Amino acid sequence: MAIGVFDSGVGGLTVHHKLVERFPAADFVYLADQANAPYGGKPGEEIVALTRAGCERLFAEGCNLVVLACNTAASVALRRLQQTWLPGFRREIGRPVNVLGIVVPTIEAATGLPWEHEAERRGDKVEKLDIVGVFSTPATAASRVYEIEVDKRRQDVAVFSEPCPELARMIEAGASRDELREVIGRHAQALKSRIGRWPDRAILGCTHYEIVADLFREALPPGTPLIHQPDATADALARYFERHPEFAAGSGAVRRFLTTGQPGAQHSLVETFWGGPLSFEQA
Ligand code: DGL
Repeated sequence: MAIGVFDSGVGGLTVHHKLVERFPAADFVYLADQANAPYGGKPGEEIVALTRAGCERLFAEGCNLVVLACNTAASVALRRLQQTWLPGFRREIGRPVNVLGIVVPTIEAATGLPWEHEAERRGDKVEKLDIVGVFSTPATAASRVYEIEVDKRRQDVAVFSEPCPELARMIEAGASRDELREVIGRHAQALKSRIGRWPDRAILGCTHYEIVADLFREALPPGTPLIHQPDATADALARYFERHPEFAAGSGAVRRFLTTGQPGAQHSLVETFWGGPLSFEQA
């Protein structure tokens, strides 16, 4: 049994790489839905259907656990799939399978609290002392998942989202650092104007943004802490395996990479995301 890692494109490779580092003996299958990327501006129903198709493909490849290394898929589709599709699908294939996302680990890292934690609701007005800015795709921002889930756990933390409609596509298309710097700077300023000051911390809420983390750091005041999703996801998966040893994921150190787009050796962008060249098979 292998761990499946799913993203609309190459952004999830940042998460995949960290998971491989943390679980070196485990078998992994990565699926990039590049034929349909980017997801960030698509209607919710389409994101749900594409995410479900991606999970089915990974389960058909022998995965028992799929990590949605895509905020857009995790924010828009995960709960729906867990509630309306997974229970029937498990009965159909007759083995334990599960789908996990990238949002839960990020909320845990942002709040310093486990997912199960619920804040005691206080009637009086609670001062928001800590402001977290979230840069994400429009679909993730529209889901308001970070605002809602952080507020359930920490009433003293306020979340402000900044949708960046063009950024994942530009990164995937190999835009220059100067072009990316300009767009990221504009979004950082827009977030600052909306909040009325700079955020205290920031979440790079799209897996594509991890490779331009240094440009976000440049655009934000020096020393603004960034919450890194690859680390947060690897930590959360280690805790999940402790609770669910039945999902232990192979021991052959198998690494397969599938794409719905162009198979074959992938250009330098993949090296930037993953740290080395990769060859993709046709999904
Ligand atoms: N990298 C993905 C995310 O985390 C998706 C970007 C996109 O396909 O728009 O949201």
